[in-house]
Amino acid sequence: MRVAVLNGVNLDVLERRDPELYGGLSLNQLEGRIYEWARELELLAECRQTNSEGEYVTWCHDALDWAGGVIVNPGAWTHYSYAIRDALELFDAPVVEVHLSDIEHREEWRRRSVLADIAAARVNGKGPQGYREALEFLAERPQ
Ligand code: DQA
Repeated sequence: MRVAVLNGVNLDVLERRDPELYGGLSLNQLEGRIYEWARELELLAECRQTNSEGEYVTWCHDALDWAGGVIVNPGAWTHYSYAIRDALELFDAPVVEVHLSDIEHREEWRRRSVLADIAAARVNGKGPQGYREALEFLAERPQ
């Protein structure tokens, strides 16, 4: 199964952000782990990151044609981007929402995800390991 892993705004500077919240890895290191975990689970991951909301939406559209599963961490867009929600709603394939930090127990404005009700699964606050859980969820799901 091919899996699109779409990281959004500010995840390119992951290693500069609070390691207590975000785990301290760089995006490159995180993506390296995701590729390794995907191989172990016999999935084919394709990781992308952008700071442009329009590009993120375009990548969602591209992935409609090939992804058997989608893992998204849209960063702060999670909390307000109806454009990304609308794009993700187009998937028949399962969408898994991942956040490195525990957004349910941070500032009030982070507690709301506009994606929550369209996600097949959500993983919050598990750090980089959350992406592994998301991959496992997709690998275990009957096709
Ligand atoms: C995040 C949580 C968001 O609230 C924040 O804006 C991010 C990262 C996370 O992975 O914990 O940029 O999505």
